[in-house]
Amino acid sequence: MLAGRRILLVVGGGIAAYKTLELVRRLRDRGAAVRAVTTAAAAEFVTPLSLAALTGDKVYSALFDLTDEAEIGHIQLSRNADLVVVAPATANLLARMAAGMADDLATTVLLATDKPVLVAPAMNVRMWLHPATRRNAARLSADGVAFVGPNEGPMACNEFGPGRMAEPGEILAAIERFFAAAPAVAPALAGRRVVVTSGPTHEPIDPVRYIANRSSGRQGHAIAAAAAEAGATVTLVSGPVAIADPPGVTVVHVETAREMLAAVEAALPADVAVMAAAVADWRVADAPASKLKKDGSGRPPALALVENPDILATVGRHPTRRPRLVVGFAAETDDVAANAVAKRERKGADWIVANDVRPETGIMGGEANEILLVGRDGFERWPSLPKAEVARHLVERIASALAGPEAPAAAGAARDAGPAAATAEAPPRRRAPAADPAFPAPPAGRRPGPARPRKTP
Ligand code: C5P
Repeated sequence: MLAGRRILLVVGGGIAAYKTLELVRRLRDRGAAVRAVTTAAAAEFVTPLSLAALTGDKVYSALFDLTDEAEIGHIQLSRNADLVVVAPATANLLARMAAGMADDLATTVLLATDKPVLVAPAMNVRMWLHPATRRNAARLSADGVAFVGPNEGPMACNEFGPGRMAEPGEILAAIERFFAAAPAVAPALAGRRVVVTSGPTHEPIDPVRYIANRSSGRQGHAIAAAAAEAGATVTLVSGPVAIADPPGVTVVHVETAREMLAAVEAALPADVAVMAAAVADWRVADAPASKLKKDGSGRPPALALVENPDILATVGRHPTRRPRLVVGFAAETDDVAANAVAKRERKGADWIVANDVRPETGIMGGEANEILLVGRDGFERWPSLPKAEVARHLVERIASALAGPEAPAAAGAARDAGPAAATAEAPPRRRAPAADPAFPAPPAGRRPGPARPRKTP
């Protein structure tokens, strides 16, 4: 029941934090992905190292940690979870939650989340029974926060009464009850295998220099996360990026195009391949094993380039293990639509997600994306959306395409195949790009499908 569930665990500073480590272990044993956020006081009771080792993820603690903000903003941290669990929830943490404060990462995440919150209070009996804590707990209950414990019993401070944090098994049972009581809509990609490439590749010039590009990996990583959220078994083959691995995804880190190809082939068979990486087209032939040096002649070294393997084309034309749906990307600075149409054919892809990456669009490395989804018989132009939203809509489209009987060869071929409700205010637009006469008109009579409710686990 917990397999694939994503738990954001907020760890407060209480002696009971040692029990939280056991909770993490049990959650992970059941297949849940756990990401931990700690308060400053929590670090006095459990080391971030133990939490990182047990969660298998980075531990987040500082609100103004710029690296973390670049990797994963606090808003995203709070949204990339199915459930937020606060354990131990100290009197101070409950008070700050009840007051809606956001003076550290833990409380900011708790204020920013749109997900259900379960708290496991832990404090001295007098603190738990104090009218202020009673008031705060009642306020939080009224706000919809669920409680597990505290239990009655002897306390670390030699007193007796309610205030002991619930045991890990009890918190686990409460989490399981939560998911049983709120069954997700059947995950749209349950049982499907999805392989995603993301980020740039680094092609060595010599041992210290390389050819790269400006891809951040945000879009590919968001697609991998959205596919995992939809229940798929996801392998993400990532080039070097500065963002965190998405939870619940098997991530293979590679550097070069050839390594990426090998990792993708190893991940086959799969039902779906989404090749979002910005793979370097060329690499240096016979990159030297020693650093290139200026030789005093003033003449630069001549770098001979050879073409890299095309991963998308290899997968799209795979003789034995071609995934049922192969999706490529086309990052273009000119003639976006015409290039995407040609690329779909050339590389044997079913769909091409095309976008305009001229620097003034801010798409490359940015937070939003505006895409044209090109299929065999049609296309859709989506409005500018955050990359996570683009990912979710794409995954919904993939799921509905796979639900059909035939290979999903056409974006926009089915009436109901529009991105499932790109917000009501900003529906996808399906029309021929006027400035691009090379782009074929959509088949007559095709109209964007009706908006459908989003499937969220
Ligand atoms: O030809 P171009 O690089 O524009 O094609 C982009 C698409 O092809 C993307 O889906 C990218 O991931 C994929 N690609 C690839 N291997 C390459 C070059 C591009 O998989 N060597």
